[in-house]
Amino acid sequence: MAAQILDGKKIALQIREEVAVQVQKFYEIKRVQPKLVAILVGDDPASAVYVRNKELACKKAGIAGEVIRLPHQTTQIELLAKICELNDEDTCHGILVQLPLPAHIDTRTVLDAVAPEKDVDCFSPVNVGLMSQGRPRFLPCTPHGVQQLLGRCGIDVQGKHVVVIGRSDIVGKPTAMILALPTGPFGKSNANATVTICHSQTQDLASVTRNADIVIAAIGKARFVTAEMIKPGACVIDVGMNQTPEGLCGDVDFDRVSQVASAITPVPGGVGPLTIAMLLRNTLIAAETQTN
Ligand code: GUN
Repeated sequence: MAAQILDGKKIALQIREEVAVQVQKFYEIKRVQPKLVAILVGDDPASAVYVRNKELACKKAGIAGEVIRLPHQTTQIELLAKICELNDEDTCHGILVQLPLPAHIDTRTVLDAVAPEKDVDCFSPVNVGLMSQGRPRFLPCTPHGVQQLLGRCGIDVQGKHVVVIGRSDIVGKPTAMILALPTGPFGKSNANATVTICHSQTQDLASVTRNADIVIAAIGKARFVTAEMIKPGACVIDVGMNQTPEGLCGDVDFDRVSQVASAITPVPGGVGPLTIAMLLRNTLIAAETQTN
């Protein structure tokens, strides 16, 4: 039987509407409009689209969204100066530096310069540390989106074997972390999973993934996860966004895996929209915590 398709677009819209209501309430009480500033360096076309989508989503949620577009040849010192300026700017609550940055800029140095209380991506070591101790200031947007998507589709991870393929700082590691924590974020929990992280050096990957109740693919290789790697009835979450000659494609061979899995996310329209929804939520949290 074909798998249930998990509609990330629909769930993201629900969350965006919830955030919009909370933003309005916050404004009525505090007379402060949350503001997100995104910095885009260079002219990577995919990044330009992502940043534009974030700007539009802010507007729809009642959040002020500004994009600072800097030329490719911007120096690291100039970029750091811009971040310092925003760190000190009271009307800016969230700062997002769109990745990837041009090769002449050290990404770690730049991300570390963002004030932790404005780090709505949850990339700062302070925020990653707080998250790992189960007392998050923010949750990273894509991992939190995965958690929300699963929870809101009625897929409880509690006690289940979740296999995360990929160990990136943006997706793999934090996704594994938040699903394994003893309590879920912000109220209703979808946590307490038994998590295995797989990566390029994992031996006999398929034997590990075939044991999983839930597989989360975050590798960055088109159609890497095949039907043979999935236990019949498992749930498959595809975080991949790969540009191929045939168009945008996930890390999962959707056509074949959807014949084996019980539930699966499509690409596009799966996890992607959740990332923006959770970014809006983090921007509201940033504004709340920075407002007396
Ligand atoms: N580039 C791809 N994904 C992301 C993300 O989640 N945050 C930022 N800042 N850049 C990205």
